Order: sequence, then structure tokens, then C-alpha cells
Amino acid sequence: MFAEDEARLLVEAGGSPELIARRVAGEPLEHVLGWAEFCGQRIVVTPGVFVPRRRTEFLARSAAGLARPGSVLLDLCCGSAAVATSLGTLLPGVSLHAVDIDPIAVACARRNLAPLGGHTYTGDLFAPLPADLRFDLIIANTPYVPTDEIGLMPPEAREHEAIMALDGGADGLDIQRRVVREAPDRLVPGGVILIESSEPQADALAAVFTEAGLLAAIHRCADLGAVVVSGR
Ligand SMILES: C[S@@+](CC[C@H](N)C(=O)[O-])C[C@H]1O[C@@H](n2cnc3c(N)ncnc32)[C@H](O)[C@@H]1O
Repeated sequence: MFAEDEARLLVEAGGSPELIARRVAGEPLEHVLGWAEFCGQRIVVTPGVFVPRRRTEFLARSAAGLARPGSVLLDLCCGSAAVATSLGTLLPGVSLHAVDIDPIAVACARRNLAPLGGHTYTGDLFAPLPADLRFDLIIANTPYVPTDEIGLMPPEAREHEAIMALDGGADGLDIQRRVVREAPDRLVPGGVILIESSEPQADALAAVFTEAGLLAAIHRCADLGAVVVSGR
């Protein structure tokens, strides 16, 4: 975003010296404003919560192409629940569920999902969900930055987003492996899981899907520099 656009948004938000000082000190613009634009919507994002990235719109749009009226959707590792919120707005009538391990993220997700009748849960991956709940679609943008690469991220991410929102372990795939292992038991027959990935990691993630008995496919969006791996 250009500096002029940031300045306009800060002025629209009141432009107080306190807001400007927070931005000058390096806090992400979205935390200062209290919202991020995602799929054309303003998503509430509170300090400390992962700022939804533009490339993740590809994950949301890929899911939108698969959902049907009445589909039961899970936004796993939901952060602000930007993905579930955009899907609930695009596809009225779907049933929305969102999980995050970070209570601060879940409180933020609840603010976005409550108007859509969505359900939020705090805990580790599938653990906090009702035991008998199954999904037509599981959508996950998990942490996937290799631990050694976190130090290379911009300070806005390193200093203002929780480490548990970023760190994917030695090769970046630690959490994704756990998600994929448990997903088949949580999908209805014919259900689909979609996970955001990256170009260097996509083949390895697709192999994890295959090992779990899922039919894997890699999808790319050149415009957003986004990669999604799906499993059916
Ligand atoms: C990369 S952020 C993505 C947030 C959101 N999906 C988005 O795209 O804006 C990853 C999220 O996963 C959550 N998380 C990390 N480990 C988790 C776990 N074991 N169970 C549930 N959520 C987890 C973090 O708290 C963080 O909010």
C-alpha cells in the first residue's frame, strides 16, 4: 500500500497523535486501524492477532467454489476467521465453525463470526470440536514458516504477531502434518480439505496428503503468489 493510502486511512480513523505514533513505531496498519481488508470486506483484527494476508484470498475463493448451500465448513487455525467470515458472507446458508489455540484470536474471530451465526472454539486443532461433528470442507491456513526463517520476516510480523501464528517447525510442515493426519476422520464422505502452502513446500505437503489416503492436488494463483493444496 502506498504511504498516501495509509495516511488517508489513518485520517479516516480519526488521525489522532496516538494512532500515528503506533504506526510510526512499526505496529501493522491493520492493528492500528482495527481492521483488514479481505475479499472486499473489513475484517476485525485486534492487536496480537495474525493479519490476514491478501494471498489467503485464494484459499477463501477456492473454498467458495466447492461449498454448497448447507455445507458445514471448518476454518482451522482461524486467527481472525477472515476466511470463514468471507465464506459466510459470500455463501449465506453455510454452517461456520472456527478453531484457534490462541484465546486472543478466538475473541477476535467471535466478533467477526457472531453476526453470521458462526461457532468459535479455543484449543488445539480438532480437539475442542464436538466429537460427532463432520465437515464438508476443512480450510486451514496454519503456521507454515520454517523456524529458521522467522528471523527473516518483516519486523511487523516478527514483533506484532504471535510466534504460534507463524512457526511451522523445522520444515514448516509440523502443524500441517497433524492436520492432514486427523482430517479424514473429520470429513464427510466426499469432503475436501484445503491448506494454504507455498511454492517450496507444496510438493512435500501433497505427499503428506497422499500418505493419509487423500487424493491430492496443487492449485496456484500467479496474481496473488498463492498456493493451495487440496485433498479429497
Ligand atoms: C498463519 S495464522 C493464520 C490465521 C488465519 N487463518 C488467517 O489466514 O488470517 C495461523 C493461526 O493458527 C493458530 N494456531 C497455531 N497452532 C495452532 C493449533 N495447534 N491449533 C489451533 N490453532 C493454532 C495461531 O494462533 C494463528 O492464529
